[in-house]
This record gives sequence, C-alpha cells and structure tokens, in this order.
Amino acid sequence: MSLYVWWRASLSRGNDIIGFVVGGSYSRGILVQLQNIVHEEVEVGYGLVAESERGKYLMIVNDVIADSPDTAVSVNMSRKPLFTKRLLSDILLTSKLNCVPVACALNGRIDESLTVPDYLSKCRLLTEDTAETFYGKIDWQKSYPLGTVKPSEYNIPLDVSVMVQNSFGIFGKSGTGKSVLGNLLAAYILLYSKNSILNGDDIPTTQLIFDMHSEYGLKLKTPTQAVLAPGVAQCFPEEFKVYCVDHELVEEIEKEFKRGTLAREFKIRKDKIEVEDIIALSELLKMSGVGALNLQSLKDRLDEIGGNWFDAIINFNNYTNQELKDRGFDVQTITSLRALSRRLSTFKNLPQFSETEDTCQELLHDLENGKNVVVSFGKYGDLEALYMFIVNYISRRLREAYVGKSVGEGVKNRIVIFVEEAHKFLNPGVRESSPLGLIARELRKRGIVLGIIDQTPSQIDENVFGMIWNFFVGATSIERDVDVVTSSLKLTQLFKPLVSALRRQEFLVYGSALKYPAVIKVVDYHSIVEKIREEYERKFKVNVSDEYVKRFLEED
Ligand SMILES: Nc1ncnc2c1ncn2[C@@H]1O[C@H](COP(=O)(O)OP(=O)(O)O)[C@@H](O)[C@H]1O
Ligand SMILES: [Mg+2]
Repeated sequence: MSLYVWWRASLSRGNDIIGFVVGGSYSRGILVQLQNIVHEEVEVGYGLVAESERGKYLMIVNDVIADSPDTAVSVNMSRKPLFTKRLLSDILLTSKLNCVPVACALNGRIDESLTVPDYLSKCRLLTEDTAETFYGKIDWQKSYPLGTVKPSEYNIPLDVSVMVQNSFGIFGKSGTGKSVLGNLLAAYILLYSKNSILNGDDIPTTQLIFDMHSEYGLKLKTPTQAVLAPGVAQCFPEEFKVYCVDHELVEEIEKEFKRGTLAREFKIRKDKIEVEDIIALSELLKMSGVGALNLQSLKDRLDEIGGNWFDAIINFNNYTNQELKDRGFDVQTITSLRALSRRLSTFKNLPQFSETEDTCQELLHDLENGKNVVVSFGKYGDLEALYMFIVNYISRRLREAYVGKSVGEGVKNRIVIFVEEAHKFLNPGVRESSPLGLIARELRKRGIVLGIIDQTPSQIDENVFGMIWNFFVGATSIERDVDVVTSSLKLTQLFKPLVSALRRQEFLVYGSALKYPAVIKVVDYHSIVEKIREEYERKFKVNVSDEYVKRFLEED
C-alpha cells in the first residue's frame, strides 16, 4: 500500500470531515475548502454542516469551485500524470464550495442563521441525524414526508397543519413534477384533515381542485402519456367526488376504478350566468372595458329577446338588424354585440350549458359538507375559454356563498382551492376583479386559501406573492420567473443558482410549513401513495365506511 493510499484510507476511516470553512460572508455565502474528497462528489443543492466551537451551522451548497487553474495548467500531464496529480491534490490543487447559511444550533437553541461559522469550522455532509435536529420529525398527524435532502436519506417533514392556513404555490416549468406534487399535497391535506377531526384540534379542511388535465380525478401520466399512477381522487374514492366537464370522463372514471368514486357530469344552468362571468374573460376575448360595461345595462333587453341573455348573445347572429332595431338596439350596440357573439362562438352548442340543471349548486353543497371536490376537464382541458369560464364561474359562486361568513360563524370547513395555470386568474390585469383574485384577498380569514400551480409565475400579480406563505419551486430557466419565486426568501441571490440546478422531481421548498428552506427530492409518488392509503385505512376506514354506506343510501 502506498503512503498516499494509506493516508487517504486513514482519513476516511471514522473521519467524515470533508473540509473547513476558510472565509466568505453572510451576503455572498460561506467558502469551504475541500479536503479528503474530490469536488466531483459534491453537487449544488447538497446539505452541509459546519461545526465551530460554539455550535453547528446548516448550509446548502450553491456553487462548486475548482480554484487552482494556475497550478493545474502548469502541470505537465504527459509525464507521470497520476503521480503528479496525487502529489498536488489537497495541497496545491484546491477545490472550494460556496454555501448558503441556513440555520444554526448554538447553545441548544436552533434558529435561522444570521452569521457565518468561524474560520476552520469542520464541515461534514448532512446526515440523517443532524438533518433531524434542524428540520424535526415526521409524525403522520400534522407533519408528513415531503422528500429527501441530498446527500442524506433523511425525509423532511412538511407541517400540513401550518401549510393549509395560508395560500401556497407550486411553480416550475413543464415536466418538473408540479402535478405529481399537487396530488401528493392533496393526499396529505386529506389525511391531515381526517386526523384533525379525530383529534379535534382544527376545523376540517376540504379541497376544491380545478383539474385541467384530469390528473387528480383520473390518473397521472408520464411525459410520454403512459400511466404513472392514479390521481388523488382515485386513491381516496370515499372522500372525493369528481365533477366531469367532459361527460365521457364520467364513464371512464367509473369503468376504470371500481372502488366507487362518485363521478358526475358538470352542468351550468344558463340563467345562473352573470354578466361578470363573461367580463372575467374580457382579456382572453379582447373585449374593451366599455363593451363590458354596456353589457350590464343591456342584460334585461337581451333576456327579453333570447329568453336568457347568455343564449341571446351566443346566438346573436340569428337576429336580423331590423329585428334588433325594432327591439330598441342602436346600430353601434348591434355591431359590438355581434363582435362579442363571434368571440363567444366557442361556447355555442357546448353540452355543459343547460336550461335546468345546476350542478354547481350541488358542488357548493358538497364542499360545505366536507366532501372533497375535483372538477376534471377531460378533453375540454385545452379549451382555454371554457377552463377559465368554469373556474371563474364556480369561484364566483363560492365567493358569494362565503363572503358574509367567517370561521366559527357559519364556516365549518377550511377550503383549499387548487388551480393550475393560476396566472390566467391572478395576472395584474384581472387580479383585482377575478373571483379567485378576490378570494385570495378577502377570504383567507374565512378559511379559503389557494394552492396556486403555475409555469410562468412572473405573469402573476406581485401582490399575490405576498399572500403565498409556502413556495415549492421547481426548475425554471426564465430569469423573471426565478426572480419572483425566490423574492420572499432572505439571501435571494444565493438561492437563485439552486433553482437553475434542480432536476425533475426536485424542488426548492421554503415557507411557514418547513422549518428552513431546503432542496428536496420529492418522495416517489407511487410508493408513498400506497403508504398514505394504508395509513388511511388503518385509522379511518372503519368510521368512513359507515358514513359512506349512509351517504350511498341517502343518495339512492
Ligand atoms: N414525486 C414523483 N414521483 C414519481 N415520479 C415523479 C415525481 N415527480 C415527477 N415525476 C415524474 O416526472 C413527470 C412529470 O411530472 P408532472 O407532475 O406531470 O410535471 P408538471 O406538472 O410539472 O408538468 C411525471 O410524469 C413522472 O414521471
Ligand atoms: Mg402538470
């Protein structure tokens, strides 16, 4: 055994120190000089712990630096290359890490770190034990396993009891794992709510999920459209009701899943549509503000000609100019209504509009009674106008039902509303008037919060970010998007490189539900969902089945 190999082996035996703090600053990060380890073995996003005489510091690596280029270029690698490299390694060929200070444990107190560890503090890769002292334990009551922190196998607890108190956001470009994470959070919220009812320590939490691509109501798919896993409603058919905008989905859900999910066709009763439901689409339909205002004053007259103003507008071109003039419409109004009618032509002959059925009322009733609701769009998910219309319409009616109430006075449940493509409802142009924007602003105190899912967060009004208390940030390459999703962090500049380095299924997570920010590889959905289901059956199935049977009997 050569002296060098013996020396390396003796270092690695019982000695897990990988380097020492050699400098840096709070605002730019801590510099760690590596020893006993090749920098290739450390990745951006790794957790690191520095130990000084006073205590321990939790840090996240945000840069890996090979900082001896001058020495390296002077080596003549054609002569005894390996020998030369070994001789120089650790002495002249140095490598450093730049780390974000996250938390510190000093004198038995753990807090966020507002300083940097002392010179020559010993650094180790994060282990399960140390991670647990900083992030705490999973109890499957309030806190649930979110995922692992590299390089350890430690599973970080997400405090769902805290998360549901305020709006949260899942961001990242397409394919990063937002929908999978959304389903996972929904499953945890369900379990948390059941636990909180059992323990009597919180009001129940009910979920309303706008499921654009039928991933919550039916199944999750891989990017190549293969089936990944059943969606949350299929995992807990006893707890969810799926309203299908696409009637073919009702059959598909019932055929595919035999556990008894209640699937129901979603119908909008035309006379419940208000002018504001159309106005909410004005950006998409390129309607001017004046045009929108006129509509309100024209409503009665339109009601007269079409039996219902919405029908009248959709079918406006069925009326001749003369007929309309006789009914008191002037030429200018006729022209702009014809233009609006053309823009609304997507809605013509859609089966979701009905003369008599009002499933929205039933949906609101379900929510009020603690039933979790998924609104799945099926093949209509790509019809932007219809998706926006339905999300706005349900939200508007929900808001109307809750505006006068508060927790304790008439509000029995908290409601979490999941919405994909949230910027469509929360961009600066519509945030102040869209029902979801109003809900975000007014109804938190009445127990309604949003689970915002979005690929382009920079299009969301900046005021909305002030209402988001927990951020799940997946890979995003557009700088504007990285800027807004990290803006609520201290040391924003240090965290940004972490976002660019995220892989699929990895998220930078921070906010009230997690003790400290962390880069997390989200738990594998397949296996965790099985575990969640087991946990659910073990604890709640007995009670639930009674309820379930009762409800079935009632509905027959
Ligand atoms: N937690 C996870 N468990 C298992 N697979 C995952 C997980 N997160 C992401 N994936 C994989 O990544 C793919 C994309 O995830 P998805 O949630 O559909 O992305 P997004 O909604 O951001 O476009 C999934 O189809 C799956 O293959
Ligand atoms: Mg998705």
